[in-house]
Amino acid sequence: MAHYAVRESPPLRGEIPISTSKNAVLPIMCGALLTGEDVRIERVPELTDVKTLCALLASCGCSVKKEGDALVLNAGALQNPQDEEDVRKMRASVLVLGPLLSRLGEARIPLPGGCAIGQRPIDQHLKGMSALGAKVKFDHGGVTLSGRLRGAVIYLDMPSVGATENLLMAATLASGTTRIENAAKEPEIVDLAAFLNAMGARICGAGTSTIVIEGVRALHAVSWQPISDRIEAGTFLVAAGITGGELLLRHCPFAELEAVILKLQSMGMDITATPDGVLAKCGCPLRGADITTQPYPGFPTDMQAQMTALFATTPGISVVKDTIFPQRFMHCSELKRMGADIKVDNGTAVISGVETLSGAPVMASDLRASAALVLAALKAEGTTEIHRLYHIDRGYEMIDEKLLAIGAAVERLPDDDN
Ligand code: EPZ
Repeated sequence: MAHYAVRESPPLRGEIPISTSKNAVLPIMCGALLTGEDVRIERVPELTDVKTLCALLASCGCSVKKEGDALVLNAGALQNPQDEEDVRKMRASVLVLGPLLSRLGEARIPLPGGCAIGQRPIDQHLKGMSALGAKVKFDHGGVTLSGRLRGAVIYLDMPSVGATENLLMAATLASGTTRIENAAKEPEIVDLAAFLNAMGARICGAGTSTIVIEGVRALHAVSWQPISDRIEAGTFLVAAGITGGELLLRHCPFAELEAVILKLQSMGMDITATPDGVLAKCGCPLRGADITTQPYPGFPTDMQAQMTALFATTPGISVVKDTIFPQRFMHCSELKRMGADIKVDNGTAVISGVETLSGAPVMASDLRASAALVLAALKAEGTTEIHRLYHIDRGYEMIDEKLLAIGAAVERLPDDDN
């Protein structure tokens, strides 16, 4: 395994090409199981989560071919995953449930465990699938769903991104009309619905809390370019803020990042959309702020850890409340090892900004926490060693090259026990 040695860095300057969205490409890859014809996905990011899902799709009998940075998937010979371990490796694997059930009439997956950011139940997925007519059976740590799907009205108890995506995919081949109420409205769901409609599905209302799906008999081949990664983009906006630099983000979504951009502007950053991309400047000292995470279009929970790192060296008191994942504060104990002044209680962190942080050996606990530690290390005196780097490789494509290209003093080193 490897770790980062990050030294205090000058203001970051330069251009960053934002990659295709991890959280768009993963459900779209699962959507490819809904047809027996070729599905070509362009500009697929080199991420371990993508590699993990490719292995799972292959174990479902799907052929997986890389053509440059495109993936060509063909699920003509679809079956249930042969190795349940492949499903357990990544939470997003639950998204094969809807496609497998609607094409095969039966699907079995292991029940996902919790993770560093909290319990990750799938009760809303299962509630929706049973509303569509599936029989649900729990045994040996897994769940088996079976039955022919027919359209239904589904009310989600909370706007779950994954449940909305899973049920959207299952409903495309169900007989009759399905209406999903209290659906999540994330841009990744709009992209998934547009991808499915390009395959011949009949979905309307994606991006609103009511989605209506007319079931069709079959879906067909498609070539698709998923949207850019708004969370990667937000992470680099924070990198400009924490180092007082100036970054131009190419292929950067602007409207989909509104809650984050408005918050950073309220702290004193200058962020504008230009014909070449989104330009982020941070010339003046920033002011603290408060954030409460909400379902889209509210402030995204996936940007909470990165903002906490920014608040750690921003003068004033900032308050972070995560209503989506109240336990998503493991990065705070590591930031405190670097000298941050943070008190965490009951899903809320109160951060009092300090002059400087000091480099220390820290441990990444999940994907966004690892990004937060890199951001804080750029602003910490001395060297910070960030261990369990595999977390950051799950969701940030070519992160080393991108950081080095803008002047970050980052070095990837093998662990001593290697
Ligand atoms: C997606 O996870 C994202 N992952 C997460 O990004 C993101 O944090 C999350 O949405 C919220 O925006 C992908 O898209 C691959 P949810 P998901 O279902 O679908 C509760 C990252 O860093 N819930 O919207 O798992 C759940 O416990 C990752 O890129 C139930 O109670 O999130 C949570 O409190 C991390 N029952 C809330 O809903 C369910 O059946 C939101 O979860 C489902 C969810």
